[in-house]
Amino acid sequence: MTEVSRDELIAREGKPEDATFTAPLRPRTFPEFVGQESVVANLKIAVFAAKERGEPLDHLLLDGPPGLGKTTLAHVVANEMDVRLTATSGPALERPGDLMGLLTNLGHGDLLFIDEIHRLPRVVEEFLYPALEEFQIDFVLDKGPEARTVKFNLQHFTLVGATTRVGLLTTPLRERFGLFHHLEFYKTEDLEEILTRSARILEVPLTAEGARAIATRARGTPRIANRLLRRVRDYAQHERRERLDEATAAEALEKLQIDAQGLDALDKKVLEVIIETYDGGPVGLKALAATLNEEEDTLADVVEPFLLKEGYLGRTQRGRLATKRAYEHLGKKPPGDVLEIKHLPFEEEDSGHDGL
Ligand SMILES: Nc1ncnc2c1ncn2[C@@H]1O[C@H](COP(=O)(O)OP(=O)(O)O)[C@@H](O)[C@H]1O
Ligand SMILES: [Mg+2]
Repeated sequence: MTEVSRDELIAREGKPEDATFTAPLRPRTFPEFVGQESVVANLKIAVFAAKERGEPLDHLLLDGPPGLGKTTLAHVVANEMDVRLTATSGPALERPGDLMGLLTNLGHGDLLFIDEIHRLPRVVEEFLYPALEEFQIDFVLDKGPEARTVKFNLQHFTLVGATTRVGLLTTPLRERFGLFHHLEFYKTEDLEEILTRSARILEVPLTAEGARAIATRARGTPRIANRLLRRVRDYAQHERRERLDEATAAEALEKLQIDAQGLDALDKKVLEVIIETYDGGPVGLKALAATLNEEEDTLADVVEPFLLKEGYLGRTQRGRLATKRAYEHLGKKPPGDVLEIKHLPFEEEDSGHDGL
């Protein structure tokens, strides 16, 4: 199969094949971190002020679709604060005991990074509250009549939580973060800059037009941009092209079934199913996932946000709708009552992004 599998597009770090390619590309400092100007500007201020006072940074929550730089930003902050970062993830922390060792090993000002923090089990979350507020934990030793609670004092550390679904966080957890930033999809120019930087580091002969051709098809996502760069590099090598120019990039990406707007095979399948099987919608996420034989989370995290933002999909309380743009993109005739507006006044389940 030539198409880029969705797993590959969204795969998190850690795949060995990936590490050699992505490790040198990951920005380490604020100046290396491209785009997201307002988030970076605010973080710089917070880091500067905390450092000058010699205090740990406030707890920080980063939210946004996969591949936009949440993990990268956590490392940048640790680096700029000159502290250590310990990384774990919500699903990896099954019991309070799993968190215990991590917390007691943190030094003053160190960062504890919890990825996918919306998937933290409730018992672990509740165990975390006093750690976040009083830097103390109550740990229950033994069971039954022998059981006793021991109080541990912790160093003043900083929790950095990352999530693709801030709406799934409980209010008490969300309220314990003093800093809260939402990452947006990147502008094409920013992705061009990221690609140019990546090509320089990897010593790939990418032209400015080639960078633009990849950037426009990268769904506003640096991780995808870097992935596509790798695919275009393979293609150029296979075809004995000397440069990764516009034509080379366009050909390579067309072979991967990524169209000029950056929609891939799965995006198109989603739109097609809504239009063909569900008469344009509205259709619920569950039904859509079942018909497509895809995970609901994949649709909600990595397919929908981009399609919504680009106006191919509308989201209402009753489900997802294909818009006029979706019909036209697939070369289908839209029905008379099709949705034409770019953004529906849908009920944002992830509302509250703007709060600090
Ligand atoms: N602002 C940025 N500038 C340059 N490269 C970036 C930026 N944000 C992300 N990247 C690249 O994209 C990849 C994915 O970012 P990552 O932080 O893992 O995303 P997330 O944790 O949000 O899923 C990183 O390996 C990094 O190389
Ligand atoms: Mg990440």
